[in-house]
Amino acid sequence: NSKGPTTEINYVYRGTFIHSTQQTPLQILEDEVLGVDTDGKIAFIGKAAELDSLSQTFGFSPSEVIQLAQHEFFMPGLVDTHIHAPQYSYAGTALDMPLLEWLNKYTFPVESRFKDLEFAQQVYSQVVKRTLRNGTTTACYFATIHTDASLLLAQIANDFGQRALVGKVCMDRNNSVKHYKETNQESQDETCRFIAELLNKKYPLVRPVVTPRFALSCTGALMGQLGAIAKNNNLHIQSHISENVEEVKLVKELFPESKSYTDVYHKHNLLTDKTVMAHGCYLSDEELALFRETGASLSHCPNSNISLCSGMLNVRNVLKHNVKLGLGTDVAGGYSASMLDAVRRTLDTSKVLTIQDPEYDTLTFEEVFRLATLGGSQALSLDDRTGNFEVGKDFDALRVNVAAADGPIDLIKIEEPKIILEKFLNLGDDRNIVEVFVAGRKVVPFTKQ
Ligand code: GUN
Ligand code: FE
Repeated sequence: NSKGPTTEINYVYRGTFIHSTQQTPLQILEDEVLGVDTDGKIAFIGKAAELDSLSQTFGFSPSEVIQLAQHEFFMPGLVDTHIHAPQYSYAGTALDMPLLEWLNKYTFPVESRFKDLEFAQQVYSQVVKRTLRNGTTTACYFATIHTDASLLLAQIANDFGQRALVGKVCMDRNNSVKHYKETNQESQDETCRFIAELLNKKYPLVRPVVTPRFALSCTGALMGQLGAIAKNNNLHIQSHISENVEEVKLVKELFPESKSYTDVYHKHNLLTDKTVMAHGCYLSDEELALFRETGASLSHCPNSNISLCSGMLNVRNVLKHNVKLGLGTDVAGGYSASMLDAVRRTLDTSKVLTIQDPEYDTLTFEEVFRLATLGGSQALSLDDRTGNFEVGKDFDALRVNVAAADGPIDLIKIEEPKIILEKFLNLGDDRNIVEVFVAGRKVVPFTKQ
């Protein structure tokens, strides 16, 4: 189980590794050694009993191996498949009205302020640092309509070493706020400028994502143009779908020629195997089948769904349709910028569905752990690079100490790894995340301030 002896080993850890695979949501590897090469990739993972032969094959000294403490383990980094970076500025407030009113009253006025690059610098540094400390090794960001501020977000993610998809938001209709709108031409031109300038920067961990806000803020013409831009440049696409009943009704009125909300995006070439759509609470089985056919994925944002009284996603049904699914914080519709919160709210929502229908097959914490890691990576089409501890993938990982001094968890005795993971997912916070690695580089504790 190794990539071969040609790579140079940068460091080796020994201890417990917990991750998911396609076959099993929870694979616990106890007393194993994992080597990371100088390219930040996992060179090998194997039994500690084989340390001597591994050290000879890969040319490292067993005395350099870093031993994890008791109550520590490594898990793959958390993947936030949907987060609005500018909305971090009002996270934890303004949760008193439904989606469409919330957008007009709070969101658009705040986002319009990101024309100011100093304000953007402040908020974007905060959100990147906070999410990294919370263990988000990959974030799929919405920025605002402002190209230069969106480029700044990409630069900040790159500087702090967070893997990121960054989208300059597109919206050419129905914006109530005076200075927060684009013409169709501006939206196209600025999207092309954003993509070209971002690709030109050659940030190794950051990619642009084509971002029509949602069907209610884009004309059909713009959506079609953005679909073509994504196709011509083989880019990711992100948007929102079927989040709230009122929204679904208005989309039907606005696009009477389409069979469904999903069909609106499909008709405009926005459903590809590199598309991620947030929410999807009210999708029909037929629409889920279209997701499956096109390879598009969903981002489940349970905190936001509950906080804005939007709805509850039937995750079991999504999985039954074999639609790729990750979790998202959806800050600031979701008030928490922690993926551990997304894990908990996913479990809560699943249990509420079970309360409503005792036949409902409640999600397990193991399944939700997979959604937060490998599932997110698959939803963002990054699973050739990230998502678990397969040899050859980038080492995106959290070193977790469940018994961290001053941390939130008290243990009575030495517990088995599965219990320790469950405790961490339900009770842990950033005090338990002692180190964060992205592509093999230690990014938490911060080296840059
Ligand atoms: N739909 C369109 N824009 C948004 C947004 O900013 N947040 C959420 N939750 N839904 C949206
Ligand atoms: Fe959102």
